Amino acid sequence: MYDLHCHILFGVDDGADSAEESVRMARIACDGGSRGIVATPHCNISEFERNEWTSEFTKKLIMLNSTLAELNIPLKIYPGQEIFCGDDVPQLLKSGKFLTINGSRYVLVEFDFGEYSENVYSKLSRIISEGYVPIVAHPERYGFVQENSDAPYRMKNMGCLLQINKGSVKGGFGRGAFLAAKEMLDAQLVDFAASDGHGPFMRTPFLADAHELISENHSADYADLIFKINPKRVLKNKNI
Ligand SMILES: [Fe+2]
Repeated sequence: MYDLHCHILFGVDDGADSAEESVRMARIACDGGSRGIVATPHCNISEFERNEWTSEFTKKLIMLNSTLAELNIPLKIYPGQEIFCGDDVPQLLKSGKFLTINGSRYVLVEFDFGEYSENVYSKLSRIISEGYVPIVAHPERYGFVQENSDAPYRMKNMGCLLQINKGSVKGGFGRGAFLAAKEMLDAQLVDFAASDGHGPFMRTPFLADAHELISENHSADYADLIFKINPKRVLKNKNI
C-alpha cells in the first residue's frame, strides 16, 4: 500500500517528535502493509506557522530514508505537504515554497473545519485553474460535507480528488465523519484512503485493518484501488 498523507517527518509539525519516532512509525506502517509514505507536514496555517519547505526538510527526508535502508525497513518516504488552503496556494507552489506530492501535479490540501463551502470551492477552483489537481484531505471531517451530501459530488465534478482518513472508517473522528465517509465509499466517490498518521501510539500509520474493513464492507477491488493503485499513480504523476 501507499499512504499519501502522513506526518512522519520528525520535528516539523504535530507529527513525529524525533527521528526515532519517525522510524517507529515506519515500522508500524510496514507491519500494516505499506511500502511507501508521503511525508505531508502541515503548512500555510497562519503567518506564524507557514512551514515553508526548506533544505532542512529535504535533509531530514534523506536522512530518514537512509536510516530505513540501513535498518532493512522496506519503506520509502516521498516528499509532500498538507497545505492549508488559502487564495495564494498556486503562487506558493510555483515559487517552490510549498510542494506537491512527489513533484507531481497532485497537491494535498486542507481547510478550516468550519470553512464555508463556497470559500472551499472558490479556493479549489483557483488551484485547478493553474493546472494542479487538488486532493482534498479528509473531506468527511468537514462540517459542510457532513451537512450536505452533494458536496463531495461538487468537488469531484470540479476535478478534485478525495482522500478519506482510515480513522474515520473506524469511527475515530466521530459519528458525522464516520457516516460521511461511509456515504462517499458507498457511492465510490473516494479516490484514496490514507492514515493521516501523527505518531506511533495514537493515529498511527497502520493501514491493514482499514483496508480489511473496506474490503469487507465494500469490495476488495475498491479497497485495492484506494489504498494501492490510485496512490501509486499519484506518485508517478499518472492520471487517476
Ligand atoms: Fe494531516
